Amino acid sequence: MKKNLVANLMNVVFLSIFLFACSLGTSKQAISIVQQNVGTYEGKSVTEYTLTNAAGMQVGIINYGGILTKIITQAKDGSYGDVLTGYEKFDGYLQKGNPYFGALIGRYANRLAKGTYTIEGIEYKAALNNNGQSLHGGLKGFDKVLWEATVLPGDSSIQLIYLSKDGEEGYPGNLKVEVVYTLTANNAIKIQYTASTDKTTVINLTNHAYFNLSAGKSPTIYDHILQIKASKFTPVDTVLIPTGALVDVKGTPMDFTSPKKIGLDLDKVVGGYDHNWVLNKADGLQEIANVYEPNSGRYLTVATTEPGLQFYSGNFLDGTLTGTKKGIVYNKHYALTLETQHFPDSPNQHGFPSTILKPGETYHQTTVYSFSTK
Ligand code: BGC
Repeated sequence: MKKNLVANLMNVVFLSIFLFACSLGTSKQAISIVQQNVGTYEGKSVTEYTLTNAAGMQVGIINYGGILTKIITQAKDGSYGDVLTGYEKFDGYLQKGNPYFGALIGRYANRLAKGTYTIEGIEYKAALNNNGQSLHGGLKGFDKVLWEATVLPGDSSIQLIYLSKDGEEGYPGNLKVEVVYTLTANNAIKIQYTASTDKTTVINLTNHAYFNLSAGKSPTIYDHILQIKASKFTPVDTVLIPTGALVDVKGTPMDFTSPKKIGLDLDKVVGGYDHNWVLNKADGLQEIANVYEPNSGRYLTVATTEPGLQFYSGNFLDGTLTGTKKGIVYNKHYALTLETQHFPDSPNQHGFPSTILKPGETYHQTTVYSFSTK
């Protein structure tokens, strides 16, 4: 009797060890990473890291601009397609007018009015690059620099590090930025940002991926169905600087509180959607938006720790970009961005959540884009 009990116990122990070892084994094999040299920039090599999970989802990341070069996901019919805009070759990303496809954006994502802001009584001027305003970090933002890339242990994450020098593009303080991209077994891309500074500065980081969930089958996003969990947005002036007001979306074309076709009210918004939504959320990581493309059945959910979401309907795409993937013409409204971030021009808008980072503090932002079908 006692012998049997001991034998049974031993069996349970061996089985548990075996199952644990198997689970380690599968999690190791679950994501594969292939590295490929895709070009050079400022004399240094540019590498593309392609992560593939067991479901066959693929994500491409390059160390130039921390750009997401591809996101290949399954449609409901089982076929795979790339839902991101981008170029056939690395050089495409260097062309004038590349609208930040897939890139990491900083030091200050979105607009700063006249590039001017004051911290602790000192006025700073960020580089102007958009109608007399500063957009997405200035002339050479984080989207146009080489990041130091490392494959992290566990083989499902790529770490990117960039040191933005004191004074770069008109921002104070040496800022050390780390971004970790992770592909998960359940078809999500997690982006974790951290940063620290040696002088008080402003910071607003995001990723500028453009999605068309039809993967090239539909020339616009009019039939994509979008939900944004926000009951207010920040209206803007003619150069897209917030007026400072927080306005109810109810009864306006900005209302995406229930899922709505993007094309439904698009022409009622002057210039198209290019606004910041004030997310209904508490602190922490929460699902704040989702997009559904009925033909492919692809469904994207967005979760973030950030207070705002810039939904941009690709209004300035005009079909002129060259070397695009499969030669697709990226015309107006071909794709949309869902940029999780702090509100535009926060350093000048005292009613908006603060974007100040002080020495000794750590900036954190996490965003997860999850793909499925329905
Ligand atoms: C901005 C647009 C801008 C685009 C650049 C978006 O984040 O809101 O106004 O044109 O980035 O491609």
